[in-house]
Amino acid sequence: MSNLSIGIWIIFFFLILVMIAIVSKDVVVWLINLVCSKFYEYRYKTKGIDFSLDISTKYDFNLPPYIRSPYSHVFQVLNRLKLQPGLRFVDCGSGKGNILYDVRTFGFELLGGIEINRSLHDIAKKNMSKLLHDIPYILINKPVLDCDKEFDQFDVFYCYGLFKECSLNDFLMKLVDSQKRNHRTIWIIYTNLVSKTPFEKYHFKEIYFFSRSSICDFQTSVFQR
Ligand SMILES: C[S@@+](CC[C@H](N)C(=O)[O-])C[C@H]1O[C@@H](n2cnc3c(N)ncnc32)[C@H](O)[C@@H]1O
Repeated sequence: MSNLSIGIWIIFFFLILVMIAIVSKDVVVWLINLVCSKFYEYRYKTKGIDFSLDISTKYDFNLPPYIRSPYSHVFQVLNRLKLQPGLRFVDCGSGKGNILYDVRTFGFELLGGIEINRSLHDIAKKNMSKLLHDIPYILINKPVLDCDKEFDQFDVFYCYGLFKECSLNDFLMKLVDSQKRNHRTIWIIYTNLVSKTPFEKYHFKEIYFFSRSSICDFQTSVFQR
């Protein structure tokens, strides 16, 4: 075998090793999240809180179902962002309210949850009445894209895999309108984003990108306008 072909084999095996390393990091992150999520669900179940997964939104509305953001993901993003206290946070597609509870320690003045599915909204009401005592919160049972004035009371918007590109355009247009009615800085924290193009179109600036793995569910972009 010539030196050249030995060199090619070495490069080939090196590339295979690099690919295995990259893929196995994703697998490890995914597995750790699976275990932590099950533990999270169980821990709250023992306290009478229901954060279990529910796919009824998929059946009833053909929209993304209730799957929780990865364990501690939003907490880690907010920890790095260091937003000033006193802002108002809303989870767009809030399901059973898990994110509202997860962000309670970040000094938000108001927490909000917008949820299309009536039964998830009712469960969130029950959950939050048991969990959130010190912070004012509002739960809205409506499709996010039917909201207008409701947006005016919030500064920080969280979404997890909610929109396809065209509905993302509509959402951003509504936020720009809300900013015209009520002048303030708006932050959008978006996990599992389909496209950054609508954000560019509406002049939202990406100020932070958080990635724990190359799986989109573990990647979050933060935009500001
Ligand atoms: C992927 S879950 C996210 C749950 C939670 N926000 C989190 O990150 O853990 C998406 C939630 O959004 C709700 N949803 C989907 N489309 C919606 C829409 N257009 N308007 C309001 N809620 C919606 C679903 O019912 C589901 O509860």
